[in-house]
Amino acid sequence: MSDPKIIIALDFAAAAPALALAERLDPAACRLKVGKELFTAAGPAVLEKLMRLGFEIFLDLKFHDIPNTTAQACKAAAELGVWMVNVHALGGRKMLHAAADAIANTGKPPKLIAVTLLTSMAREDLADIGIQEKPAQMVLRLATLARDCGLDGVVCSAQEAGLLRGNLGKTFCLVTPGIRPAQASLDDQSRVMTPQAALLAGSSYLVIGRPITQAVDPLQALRAINLEIGNTEMGVKA
Ligand code: C5P
Repeated sequence: MSDPKIIIALDFAAAAPALALAERLDPAACRLKVGKELFTAAGPAVLEKLMRLGFEIFLDLKFHDIPNTTAQACKAAAELGVWMVNVHALGGRKMLHAAADAIANTGKPPKLIAVTLLTSMAREDLADIGIQEKPAQMVLRLATLARDCGLDGVVCSAQEAGLLRGNLGKTFCLVTPGIRPAQASLDDQSRVMTPQAALLAGSSYLVIGRPITQAVDPLQALRAINLEIGNTEMGVKA
């Protein structure tokens, strides 16, 4: 089975435009990410429709709650049949263990990954909430905690991928947003990397939103990125 590296962020306000784009894409060329905006607007029904089209889904709801509540939410996500789900590593060891245990006891466990630090948090934002540690050190510490609690990987910036790959081993899953093809607009991302550079730095999967979803020709944008990273699938249905 193919293992597409690109996860397209379907950051839409309603199901219709998300489904309209998905219907033109080939599940062999990409996976899809449904986050808080689309899920809050359209609910599990949109996940079912996307999965019926053959896509594997990363449900990006970043659960962060007491251990029991987080575990039950992860279990519910697994029962929806998603491929990947995530939690905040800042929920701590007990929460991470509870989430991993809940996922392991489901019929078809999704990959469970943790958000370490939101990439929007700079050093001064950490100081505001009483944390003096440097962001990179904190990311490594939280990613190590996630691995030790049995999680499959983390979401991180591609700029942290090398550090985490070097410290956490070859099989730990690194999911990196903030990806911009060389000529693309940065939008509101600041620390970006090209698709190929991110994979070379150790990324396992690339989360890409607007460079594909807002492109004049989204299929061509996906095809160009897949060509750049050497994916033989071309990104379009015949
Ligand atoms: O459009 P763009 O490629 O910037 O979209 C990136 C996606 O990755 C968005 O869905 C955004 O919420 C998500 N993301 C991010 N940075 C993080 C975690 C998630 O950009 N640290």
